[in-house]
Amino acid sequence: MKLFFGSTNKSLAEKISKEASLPLGELEIFKFPDGETRVRVIDNVVDEDVWVLQSRGRNPDSSYMELFFIVDALKRSGARFVGTIIPYLSYQRQDHVFRSGEAVSLEVIIKTLERVGADKIITLDLHSIKIPELFNIPMTHLSAIPLFAEVIKEKFKNLDRCVLVSPDMGGIRRIKILADELGVSFATIEKNRDLETGEIESAKLDGEIKENAIIVDDMISTGRTIGAAAELLLKNGAKNVYAFATHPVFSSDPPIFFESSSVSEVFVTDSINVPKDKQFAKLNIISVAGLFSKELSKK
Ligand code: R5P
Repeated sequence: MKLFFGSTNKSLAEKISKEASLPLGELEIFKFPDGETRVRVIDNVVDEDVWVLQSRGRNPDSSYMELFFIVDALKRSGARFVGTIIPYLSYQRQDHVFRSGEAVSLEVIIKTLERVGADKIITLDLHSIKIPELFNIPMTHLSAIPLFAEVIKEKFKNLDRCVLVSPDMGGIRRIKILADELGVSFATIEKNRDLETGEIESAKLDGEIKENAIIVDDMISTGRTIGAAAELLLKNGAKNVYAFATHPVFSSDPPIFFESSSVSEVFVTDSINVPKDKQFAKLNIISVAGLFSKELSKK
């Protein structure tokens, strides 16, 4: 068994390879001057079971194209089983039709992945628990919540002064699991977005707020959700606001945004590699390598 990886998250692949004692496979990924990608498998994979790790790079579309080519190249090279590790499944917020006339983009990605020959997928903290139903191949859905619980227990010695906060109603299931695990109370925010622009139009808080408000979300993209939640929490009695989110999508300018925001610290995982220019002083990165390597060791 070998672990191959695309160009999006080499360091996570290296950590998983080390923790799961799984050798890394060798690929040649070449970019033509016109922007097209050529993938070639260097190792012999005939009759082998292999895994490919690919997350999201700066461009989600080219990250997926590269993954499709890698799976295809491995299958054509004779691999018996090609499992995919996609720590952050791009397009997961487009998992159904919100307004008539829209494409279900996530379904297109899944169909393509299955069509090129992926035999299994392991992913992490999906936006909706309904997403696994879209797959026809076996899928494993892992969660970083237990890792967040450990960090919170370690950081906040007095949990009585803490409240967990879901910044939108979609995160209630997640926040309940973490609240049960830690034995702390939680509050929720009802957020409404303009479906056309993505702008947050209103936010309503429900629940008792304590000194340390810990926002927990599945991802940070522009940072607007966390920013709006933090303002609301500070207005309602919180002294310090912390943010935990599994996926650092960081689409716009999180360094500038978070450094000047009222959020004290931001915790994310390495499900997506955060390039140097998107890192900032308040950022802490928790590795999910252990979660994936444990899962691979089961095979
Ligand atoms: C939304 O439903 C998600 O759970 C996240 O809250 C959201 O996608 C984060 O995006 P942004 O950082 O752009 O507000």
